[in-house]
Amino acid sequence: MQKFIINGGARLEGTVKISGSKNAVLPIAVAAAILGDGVSVLHNVPNLTDVKTLSAVLEGLGASINRKNGSLYIEPINRMEYEAPYDLVRKMRASIYVLGPLVAKLGRAKVSFPGGCAIGPRPVDLHIRGLENLNANVDVKKGYIYAQSEKLIGSDMNLTGQYGPSVGATANVMMAATLAEGTTIIRGAAREPHITDLATFLNAMGAEIEGIGTSKLTIHGVKQLHGTEHTVISDDIEAGTFMVAGAITNGDVFVEGITHEQIPAVSDKLSESGVQLNWTETGVQVTTPKELKAVDVKTVPFPGFPTDMQAQMMGFLSVASGKSIITENVHTDRFIHAAELNRMGADIKLEGRKAIINGVSYLSGAPVMASDLRAGAVLVVAGLAAAGETIVSRIYHIDRGYEAIENKLNNLGADIVRADDIT
Ligand code: UD1
Repeated sequence: MQKFIINGGARLEGTVKISGSKNAVLPIAVAAAILGDGVSVLHNVPNLTDVKTLSAVLEGLGASINRKNGSLYIEPINRMEYEAPYDLVRKMRASIYVLGPLVAKLGRAKVSFPGGCAIGPRPVDLHIRGLENLNANVDVKKGYIYAQSEKLIGSDMNLTGQYGPSVGATANVMMAATLAEGTTIIRGAAREPHITDLATFLNAMGAEIEGIGTSKLTIHGVKQLHGTEHTVISDDIEAGTFMVAGAITNGDVFVEGITHEQIPAVSDKLSESGVQLNWTETGVQVTTPKELKAVDVKTVPFPGFPTDMQAQMMGFLSVASGKSIITENVHTDRFIHAAELNRMGADIKLEGRKAIINGVSYLSGAPVMASDLRAGAVLVVAGLAAAGETIVSRIYHIDRGYEAIENKLNNLGADIVRADDIT
């Protein structure tokens, strides 16, 4: 295992280029590998362990995937397997994305049931309900989801669950519906930028999806999809993380390759807190006054404040003056990072889904542990602002979703070293 050793206190300055979106490339690669008849080329693909894990899942199914200079060349092989085994799926929940496309393409699928994770229970009932609505029979037995259908048939459904729209279920059902007979309407669809990018990619493959970017997607089934070429959108969460890193270090950072439309709620909250954001055609300049103000944040599906930025925002607000309240509405149990931030001197109390943050004047470096991807990111961000040395262990979580984060931060003037953790 590896760790980051961060010497805090440096003011970040300069330009950071945002990589392609992890959450966009995962379903897009699945669509290319399973639904397409022919090679697809994806550009702007981030070099992340999650992308490697998904590639292994797709290669296990029979696709051929090659990476060259930031692009993925994906060739679906005619004789695909229909089974995604536990050994691979357990490493990454997004492997569930193969379920819908396999049924659509092969008429059957057997996919290991994804486990829970450190951010709370994560059911897949909406994925299953959506596929059943498309005329698939779905069974859960001995840790596997079995789905089969002689012919998927379009239907009109609402995919909103008790926590609102589901990114994963929307992607899964939308992919399956592209090859179903007739028209599918998904109401209550997720609208995240990565869902929009997936729909755009599917249309480039020959799908007929209308209502892209809205909560009502209309998908006219087609007989076949072909390979295509696509540039993956930039990663809104990576961009948000660097915006916060710039702000918390009182820095002056240009975050390149992101638009306000991709990250409206995070931008609004940072502005409300006093951070200056100047948007240009190519990105955003982040400059920070001496004093940051407390703000309240509620996580909700897009275009609201993303749960995937909740941890980083908590780190930021822990040094903003006044009391902030963060309410987590999407993932019920996503506050493990609060205790780690408190170890660095933050004053955060948890009450159910709320975190009450009393801003402190400074954080102190400490040994801390990443418990999931974004919880890891906030510890790095907090370590940048903290006085002294912070050691973040279990950084494999961070490598799942941030491409060379230490290099990007060091280029901005930070002092971070990656080291082997032998303890
Ligand atoms: C995706 C993102 C993840 C992000 C999340 C919410 C990927 C690979 N991951 O995860 O980073 O935190 O969106 O923006 O894109 N739910 C159900 N039943 C279901 C499915 C989901 O109740 O069948 C619930 C979940 O428990 C959660 C909420 O719906 O409370 C939203 O989850 P969902 O949007 O599906 O998250 P993921 O697609 O897993």
